Amino acid sequence: MSDADPATVQNQLRPNSARVHTALLGGKDYYTADHAIAEKLARNKIAPAIAESRRFTRRAVGYLIDHHRLTQFVELGCGYPHTPNIHDIAGDRVETARTLYIDHDQLAVVHARALMTEHATHTAEIDLTDTTAVLDAITAVLDITAPTALCLSGTAELIDDAPKLVAALTSALPAGTWLVFTHITADVHGHHINSAAETLRAAGIAYYPRTYDDLASMLTGYRLHTPGLIAPHRWRPELRSVGRYDHAVEPLHPVVCDLSAYAAIGQRCFT
Ligand SMILES: C[S@@+](CC[C@H](N)C(=O)[O-])C[C@H]1O[C@@H](n2cnc3c(N)ncnc32)[C@H](O)[C@@H]1O
Repeated sequence: MSDADPATVQNQLRPNSARVHTALLGGKDYYTADHAIAEKLARNKIAPAIAESRRFTRRAVGYLIDHHRLTQFVELGCGYPHTPNIHDIAGDRVETARTLYIDHDQLAVVHARALMTEHATHTAEIDLTDTTAVLDAITAVLDITAPTALCLSGTAELIDDAPKLVAALTSALPAGTWLVFTHITADVHGHHINSAAETLRAAGIAYYPRTYDDLASMLTGYRLHTPGLIAPHRWRPELRSVGRYDHAVEPLHPVVCDLSAYAAIGQRCFT
């Protein structure tokens, strides 16, 4: 990326979570400051946890379509596109699938809008803490009376009051709404994860690893599908070989032990 107006220069000097994330996943749209943080994180055990969380989300989307006939997805905090994205996996299975991508990062949304044009794909630049705006964006393009999945993957750990955000969305959306969820934890490899969080915070990126109990409490409005809240690579790994894109989601990192992340698929309880 290059540009010279003062706002852009300022932006180039200040790392941000969307660009650090794309740098970590092998994308191209980041500045030197983002790359420096990504390089540090790549040597930390947070890197395989982030990569496996994304692979879980892709697997979860395929699972919800194949086993529960979902056709509507909202990615909350979508970041920069990395194929296969949610709409790639969904559109590959169901031509009428609809996906809404939301992020507060203007450039991530611009990239999403430019690159993710296939199938019924929508984008919105919104801060997730403005839950009214999030709900308005969802109801503007999706029929929430039909089964819909929210994907909150790798994003809640960037938000201070994520439990409040999840609670607000949960109470506003109909019973039966699905949640695909991942979150980094310091329960496993705590020294690494606390050090990664410190690196991010020192770079101006707020970061909140949470415990199993924190996350279980955040998900209380949801009935979690078997195997529950678990490390992402342990969530039904046998589902890997379904779909045209799944060959493209081989692990970036060999997973030899447990990961510092949890993942779950839940459905908003009916009672
Ligand atoms: C680590 S990326 C995760 C990308 C993708 N969900 C995935 O699983 O690979 C987190 C994204 O959340 C976005 N984000 C963080 N806080 C946000 C907020 N308050 N509102 C909207 N987006 C936010 C960031 O801009 C970033 O693009």
